[in-house]
Amino acid sequence: MAKKQFNIGTPDLQPGDRKIIDVDGKSIGIFNVDGEYFAMHNRCPHMGGQLCAGPVTGTTLETDKTEFIYGRHNEIIRCGWHGWEFEIKTGICTVDKRMRAKVYQVTVEDNNLVLHI
Ligand code: FES
Repeated sequence: MAKKQFNIGTPDLQPGDRKIIDVDGKSIGIFNVDGEYFAMHNRCPHMGGQLCAGPVTGTTLETDKTEFIYGRHNEIIRCGWHGWEFEIKTGICTVDKRMRAKVYQVTVEDNNLVLHI
């Protein structure tokens, strides 16, 4: 099925920012991750919380030592309901790769963001 395209305005988000918009009957979060734009359905695959309204953050990285290292700053969205974390770029859950949030493609065309859903 062909994707629909929606012009959603100028890319006015700073890195680490997000906005939530309604498009074609869907609530969708638009994110700026280090100057690139990504979109995610604002519905958590766990129990349907408003995923994109949670904190944009990093996460704890694995190491071969007994220490915690914070990394991936602004690449992770944490659901406000129960704290599940997902990669903004891919929608993949950080602790269970089988679990995914729905993501959509965003392109920049003539200084406008175009959402493909
Ligand atoms: S509904 Fe999102 S973590 Fe439970």
